[in-house]
Amino acid sequence: MTELLCVQGLCAGYGDAVVLDGIDLALDAGDSLALLGRNGVGKTTLLATLMGMTRLRGGTLRWQGRDLARLAPHQRAQAGIGWVPQERWMFPSLTVEEHLSAVARPGHWNAARVYEVFPRLQERRRNLGNQLSGGEQQMLAIARALVLNPALLLLDEPMEGLAPIIVQELQRVIRQLIGQSGMAVIVVEQHARLALAMTQRAMVLDRGKVVHASDSAALLADKARLDALVSVGGA
Ligand SMILES: Nc1ncnc2c1ncn2[C@@H]1O[C@H](COP(=O)(O)OP(=O)(O)O)[C@@H](O)[C@H]1O
Ligand SMILES: [Mg+2]
Repeated sequence: MTELLCVQGLCAGYGDAVVLDGIDLALDAGDSLALLGRNGVGKTTLLATLMGMTRLRGGTLRWQGRDLARLAPHQRAQAGIGWVPQERWMFPSLTVEEHLSAVARPGHWNAARVYEVFPRLQERRRNLGNQLSGGEQQMLAIARALVLNPALLLLDEPMEGLAPIIVQELQRVIRQLIGQSGMAVIVVEQHARLALAMTQRAMVLDRGKVVHASDSAALLADKARLDALVSVGGA
């Protein structure tokens, strides 16, 4: 079977600055990966590069056997890569419902299924983007990616800056999404233990390079190694 995503020798950055320096990564349908590392090591840049939002300097990116680098960002979304960016921006003048109907593609995930997962969004469905709390915005950002029915979901620090009760709710939902209907998931998370507990595999970046790759359970069990890799700000 063809791998879903195959990245080899990836170098990318912004303008003249090269941030990612030789990244290899392969994912199959249903895989889940915790993408870890301290601040500024290139986690967001890697996700943004998968979406075509950075300057590609070298390496290959294959998606279901096709050359991903030839596709524009919106074509990558249509091809099945769903991105929940760290900034979780909303359209201030669109309602929750409109955010979802604007991007929906046929498949398992429709507004009704998303509302089952996030009952708060159903309560808020007629509210505008700028009337939502931070937690509700993050739920909507995830919901918006889900109704695209992606084969790969990219979550960039989905729990960042949210109240503990919302973090718990998002944790429950992300666990539920992982392994469901064959969707692959990459989750970037500062709280390394939390991300390791919900994923099968882990990859740690440092200064744009992969410095560790293993099963999540193995890294979770090796406290000294985990602390050495992600200590600052890690949980
Ligand atoms: N839009 C940008 N333009 C130029 N440099 C950037 C941009 N975004 C991030 N960088 C730089 O790229 C490096 C990696 O950043 P980032 O991928 O955001 O790290 P992480 O998500 O791991 O915290 C940092 O040195 C950061 O300053
Ligand atoms: Mg980041």
